[in-house]
Amino acid sequence: MLVKFSKVNKVYSTGDVKFQALSNINLEVKKEEFLAIIGSSGSGKSTLMNIIGLLDKPTSGSYELDGQNTAHLNENHLAEIRNKKIGFIFQSFNLLPRTSALDNVAMPLIYAGVPEKDRQERAKKALEQVGLSDKLLSHPNQLSGGQQQRVAIARALVNEPEIILADEPTGNLDSKSGDEIMHIFQKLNKEGKTIIMITHEVDIARHAKKTVRIKDGEIMK
Ligand SMILES: Nc1ncnc2c1ncn2[C@@H]1O[C@H](COP(=O)(O)OP(=O)(O)O)[C@@H](O)[C@H]1O
Ligand SMILES: [Mg+2]
Repeated sequence: MLVKFSKVNKVYSTGDVKFQALSNINLEVKKEEFLAIIGSSGSGKSTLMNIIGLLDKPTSGSYELDGQNTAHLNENHLAEIRNKKIGFIFQSFNLLPRTSALDNVAMPLIYAGVPEKDRQERAKKALEQVGLSDKLLSHPNQLSGGQQQRVAIARALVNEPEIILADEPTGNLDSKSGDEIMHIFQKLNKEGKTIIMITHEVDIARHAKKTVRIKDGEIMK
């Protein structure tokens, strides 16, 4: 199992106030799955995604990623696993402005210590995978929202992660651009990528192979 949650709880504490954002979550995601997690605003989707992506830890329960229990890993080790295994995609694209598509996509390779000549080559290939070979030198403000999200997908792919983790990837897009992004996800999934996508839109979730529903921090059966 690539992702295995057993009885995961997440409680946020703000001063004396406690809020249970996730309750007793059991979740298993196999390799090469394309899973949509659907739920309304405030249901705990981003909390769940942050834990899957090793950006946050459960308050209790266990999370195994690719057979490894993540509970006792220190921040450096978590960051290393995150960079190697997980490609993140966000609603707001999070691209660097005044930086070309090519350099945005090559950025994670600097942190991974890849030599410069290989960086350019790999970034170019990742942009080809999302159909943007003709936009290598364009800056984000010269691209449509859908194109910017495709740059972000290329950036997520460039380290060849095991899992693509997407939080509301179509939330800022019109429905045509959203469908294009879903077709890219479906293609990547056919090529063997595991995709976990979070959304509040039923029309987007139906592109996945499997859907689970989250409500008030609980997975619905
Ligand atoms: N850092 C935090 N501190 C306190 N409460 C939080 C924090 N992050 C999220 N919450 C609360 O947890 C619930 C779930 O939030 P979130 O996971 O962002 O939901 P979603 O992504 O489904 O909209 C919400 O009620 C939110 O207010
Ligand atoms: Mg959210």
